[in-house]
Order: sequence, then structure tokens, then C-alpha cells
Amino acid sequence: MSKILITGFAGFIGSHLQDKLIELGHEVIGVDDFSSGKFENVNPKISWYGKFPISELGFENDSMGIGTDGAPEFSNIDYIFHLAAIPRIPYSIEHPIETHNVNVNGTLNVLEQARKWKVKKVIFASSSSVYGDQRLPYKESLHKKPISPYALHKSIGEEYMRLFDIVYGLPTLSLRFFNVYGPRCNADSPYSLVIGKFLKMKAEGKSLTIFGDGEQSRDFTYVDDVVRGLVAAMEKPVHNEVINLCNGKTTTINKIAELIGGEKEYLPPRKGDVARTLGDPWKANALLDWRGEISIEKGLELMQSGER
Ligand code: UD1
Repeated sequence: MSKILITGFAGFIGSHLQDKLIELGHEVIGVDDFSSGKFENVNPKISWYGKFPISELGFENDSMGIGTDGAPEFSNIDYIFHLAAIPRIPYSIEHPIETHNVNVNGTLNVLEQARKWKVKKVIFASSSSVYGDQRLPYKESLHKKPISPYALHKSIGEEYMRLFDIVYGLPTLSLRFFNVYGPRCNADSPYSLVIGKFLKMKAEGKSLTIFGDGEQSRDFTYVDDVVRGLVAAMEKPVHNEVINLCNGKTTTINKIAELIGGEKEYLPPRKGDVARTLGDPWKANALLDWRGEISIEKGLELMQSGER
């Protein structure tokens, strides 16, 4: 059993990871500022630290014994998953300084703590967006070409991971996520990702809004697959690497709309959008013995049936 810290534990991916690590018998500590994380995602078996609107919850924070007033014990941490970020490309274009502070300075703070705590490994949630818009498939050996502040922040985060590994001997690993979807993906904000947004629109009887001609495509990855990849990244003796977590298949937005069903409404293309993403999953397979197992059809079916 290990003691594991997750930053951003109450968010979409963090909350699934928290549940998995607890199920595996680990001791899990979470931090979250609840800017996009949700209190309802908090697993009762986790001790956590963060701020949240207590008044809205209808009980005193003290009564929980954990949370903002009772910080968990941060000593002897074995592993850190650094998932906390302001994770939206359009928002980062509108707010480059605010997002830099959280995404870049926040990452550096985590690494500096990890170094002092002498943790065994830091696993960093990076993003396929670091590739920009270039020839497919995206292999880790390609030069990065970020075309948004968010993508640049993730790219800098990866460089800091590499630096702390080689300069301070702190083992680190960066995983590039490719359009992760699944239960609990946030559908409530204007920056919500396409699948959560479409499912919500369909449930409300609204048309699915498609930006551009809908022929742009993404390598969508189901959250359970991503969580398996994160756990493998912790367990395998691999470090100082950057690894894609992707399926190696790309699906157009028109196809997603068709699979979900309902009316469509075509809107102007979105600024900062890349045309297509398609990752090469070879390295994840070779180094982490990982491959995506859930197809987009299966993943959407699971989400719509409420099974997962
Ligand atoms: C991007 C990143 C991803 C990152 C995520 C975090 C890329 C390629 N991917 O995802 O790595 O984790 O941001 O924010 O940069 N769309 C519509 N209608 C909608 C909403 C979206 O047509 O109502 C389209 C978009 O134009 C886009 C696609 O769906 O082409 C996916 O968009 P979205 O789900 O927002 O994610 P990305 O921007 O691809």
C-alpha cells in the first residue's frame, strides 16, 4: 500500500483516479480548489484539503474533521498525481496570465514540494494539445508546437518534469491525455468538452452545436482507460518520459453527433481549434503495457446507459 497525493482530485479524471486507488487499497490524499472540481465527487474514504463553498453545503466544515480546517497529513507521501489545472483551451486564450499562474507556477510548486518530500514519482497530466496542428499520427518524438496558452503551459510542465528528474533526481513521468470522456465529465460550463456537452443538450431536447463543418476529429479516450494508464505509470519503473495515452483512432464531431443522435446546428469554427488529432499509442504499449480498450461506440453506450 502506498500513500498517494492527487492534485485536482475532485475533478473529472481525478475523481475516477481517487476511486480506483482507494479500491486498490492505497491511502489517498486529495487537494482541490473546487474551481471546477465538485464536492459530490469526493470519495468519503479520502482525506482532503481545499476550499469549497461551505455555505452551499448546509453543514459546518468542522463536523467533517477533514477539509479546509483539518489538513491531512502530508508527510511520507510516496507518489503524486498532478492533475490540477485550469484545463480549457478557449478559457486560456481569454485569460493567459491567470491560467499560466495555475498551470505553470502551480506545477512548479508541486515539483518543489515533491523534491522536499522525496517522493518516489510525480505523474503529470499533460495534453495532446502540445502537438498543435501537425502531421498525424502524433508520436512523442515530434517537436511540440503549442498553439494556445493552455497547450504551452502543458508543454512547459513537461519540461519542468524532465528538469526535476535530471537535475534533482526526482522521478517524473508525463502522460499526454487525448480528449478524455466518460461519466462525470463536466457539462455545465461554456467551456465543457464536446461529449459531455452533447449528451446534456440531447437530454434537454436541444440541438447539438457543431463548430465549423464537423469534419474535425479527435482521438477520444475513455476515462477508465486513462485511469488504468495512470496506475500503470505509478507501478511501472518508468520515468523521465513523455507518453501518449490514446487509442490510435480518430472520430469526427459529425460522427459523435450521429452516435448521440438528435438535431444538429452548425456554427462558425472555434478559435484555436486543431483540425484533427490522432495519437500513436505504441510507446504506452511498450513502456506501460497499456492500450485503450473501450471504443468510442462502447464508451458512448456506457455513458448513455448510465452503467458507468
Ligand atoms: C482540447 C485539447 C485536449 C485538452 C482539452 C482541455 C486539443 C486537440 N485537445 O480539447 O488535449 O485536454 O482541450 O480543454 O487541443 N465542438 C463542437 N461543438 C461544441 C463543442 C466542441 O463542434 O459544442 C468541437 C470543437 O470544435 C472541437 C471538438 O469538438 O473540434 C472537441 O472540442 P473539445 O471537446 O472542446 O476539446 P478540444 O478542444 O479538442
